[in-house]
Amino acid sequence: MFSVTITGQVALVTGAGRGIGKAIARGLVEAGAVVAVNDIDATSAQRTAAELGGAAQAYPADVSDPGAVQAMIDQIAADLGGPHILVNNAGIEYKTPVLETPVAEWQRTLDVNLSAAFYTSQAAGERMRAAGGGVIVNIASIAGHNIPLPNRASYVASKAGLIGFTKECAREFAAYGIRVNAVCPGVIETEMTAESRSNSAQLEKWLADIPQGRLGTPADVVGLVLFLCSDGARYLTGQAINVDGGKVML
Ligand SMILES: NC(=O)c1ccc[n+]([C@@H]2O[C@H](COP(=O)([O-])OP(=O)(O)OC[C@H]3O[C@@H](n4cnc5c(N)ncnc54)[C@H](O)[C@@H]3O)[C@@H](O)[C@H]2O)c1
Repeated sequence: MFSVTITGQVALVTGAGRGIGKAIARGLVEAGAVVAVNDIDATSAQRTAAELGGAAQAYPADVSDPGAVQAMIDQIAADLGGPHILVNNAGIEYKTPVLETPVAEWQRTLDVNLSAAFYTSQAAGERMRAAGGGVIVNIASIAGHNIPLPNRASYVASKAGLIGFTKECAREFAAYGIRVNAVCPGVIETEMTAESRSNSAQLEKWLADIPQGRLGTPADVVGLVLFLCSDGARYLTGQAINVDGGKVML
């Protein structure tokens, strides 16, 4: 595992009940941070926090609800201080052709994958500005780099929007000492991709496109996130970096 030291920092990781977010929360705790574990599923948030021990605490909330986000960040600040680090990881994906996508599905995807990052960045950004700095990492996707994925228009649009939002925040927040970057995973072995991975034709196609010849694991994403949170990345902001085994080379 990539090793970085981030001590004395309070980090909020959204959607950390399982998958990539859980691996990031674990990596941050191992690096010395205190981690607020968010998930819409209270049981999984509490399970992750319990597994990570005393340096982690569960904060269940739906990050697509701006009032719930403000209340959660106020509570984290009161309990733990900070947050000094915000990782916007919560995400959902529907696989529906454009012509069959219900408005509610389109809206929900944008609410969770894009608007939530606005709510958290505003609430946490205010506290980071007052503290003189901070770090925001948005978990986007290679899909956000205009890589079309069949039947995932709402997902692709939300992730492209998240990359745009990342760059805009980076420009505005630089004056406050806040760095903002996006991490764009390729195909990672989590529950989100379980159904597609069980399709052998789909799996073969994916693998043929990945120079390193394998799918990623949640742990493969963690090193980049930790680096971006560390002082080693102090001159790095407004970037959207792929971590995908070489699938997309820009
Ligand atoms: N798995 C991949 O191949 C892949 C690739 C690129 C990007 N990503 C992105 O990485 C992030 C994590 O994906 P994953 O594969 O671990 O997915 P996952 O489905 O395994 O986990 C997502 C977590 O987010 C939580 N969540 C969903 N809606 C929420 C809400 N409104 N509020 C709070 N929590 C909520 C879920 O309960 C779940 O625990 C997502 O943003 C996803 O789009 C994943």
